[in-house]
Amino acid sequence: MTTTVPEIRRGLAGVVADTTEISTVIRETNSLTYRGYPVQDLAASRSFEEVAHLLWHGDLPDPAQLREFRARERALRPLGRTTSELLARLPETCHPMDVLRTAVSLFGAEDPIEDDDGTAANRAKSLALLAKLPTVVAADQRRRRGLSPIPPDSDLGYAENFFQMCFGAVPEPEVVRCFEISLVLYAEHSFNASTFTARVVTSTLSDLYSAVTAAIGALKGPLHGGANEAVMHMLEEIGDPARAGEWLDGALAAKRKIMGFGHRVYRHGDSRVPMMQDALDRLVSRATDSEATRLATLHESLRRAVLTRKGIHPNLDYPAGLAYHLMGFDTPTFTPIFVMSRITGWTAHITEQLAHNALIRPLASYTGPGQRPVPTVP
Ligand code: ACO
Repeated sequence: MTTTVPEIRRGLAGVVADTTEISTVIRETNSLTYRGYPVQDLAASRSFEEVAHLLWHGDLPDPAQLREFRARERALRPLGRTTSELLARLPETCHPMDVLRTAVSLFGAEDPIEDDDGTAANRAKSLALLAKLPTVVAADQRRRRGLSPIPPDSDLGYAENFFQMCFGAVPEPEVVRCFEISLVLYAEHSFNASTFTARVVTSTLSDLYSAVTAAIGALKGPLHGGANEAVMHMLEEIGDPARAGEWLDGALAAKRKIMGFGHRVYRHGDSRVPMMQDALDRLVSRATDSEATRLATLHESLRRAVLTRKGIHPNLDYPAGLAYHLMGFDTPTFTPIFVMSRITGWTAHITEQLAHNALIRPLASYTGPGQRPVPTVP
């Protein structure tokens, strides 16, 4: 009897696992759309809250819907006493992504699981996570700086409130705008590794908090969201812009991956990069110190060197990493900021997965030993 060996797609590359109505990359134009709208156009003209509404509800809010959405999000920002106390007890050496993962797990422990089909309950949980995650991230950055937390301010928008909770002040509107652009660009990207993780967990009919906790774990890795943090470490390691080419030769010879470059879906450049690069350029031109100019020169030298030597383009993490540094965030806070944005995409996918669920369970081609008898216990 002959057995057909199924084709193995390592890393599920090129495998279409399901349908989605949330976002896509249009191959012909290399353009990312959220619910049909080009992400660049959304980032240019809409707030992050409007984009969150779009991803969850399928369309942009009208003014009354936006008012209601904002009021509900602002009311949910404070953390419960138990969560704050437990998070404050975590070791200060703990990475902020571990703090965030633990926080979501605690939110789940405090929230009774609903018995219904989950849609309404999951929408409420998604909004609560959107509102509370910045409070966790900001308090953690302050804790690592030896400072006490600043409570959320319900008079401020999502992005402004985050700056206020981190630094006790809101920067110039242009800086807030650059940050908001990054949130919009990071919000959603179809079946990427962390979103797919959330869908796998959801497909077993587990709860939203478990799916988001797992997604945070997947995003943390440097091949995914952890790359925006890794970009900054890499720039620090290179140091001198004149060393970019020499450093790159050494890194490629050592078979190192260059952080912030390459993408599974975009082979000719990440469509989100030009807009984020433009935001980064505006931040650099505002900076008054030579350090920003040095970093920007190094950033550009490395981009050119990678393109020339490997033909690989930067992904969103490359300009976003340096932009967050220039905004004053600590490097370990970069990937948690990605979470604050991607929570919208993850939870939109969790709802979609539940709406027409199929257990996600691929096969593997076994390459271990053939069947053999268990040796008798000596
Ligand atoms: N540095 C050096 N070489 C690279 C890089 C890179 N960043 N990216 C791809 N390549 C090379 C690979 O070595 C491989 O070359 P080879 O065929 O000679 O072996 C080829 O390009 C194809 O790369 P793969 O790793 O097979 O592509 P894959 O689709 O599996 O990986 C990934 C995509 C993980 C993003 C990869 O490009 C990478 O590791 N980049 C660095 C990490 C990073 O920036 N991640 C962020 C992703 S975007 C996001 O999360 C927002």
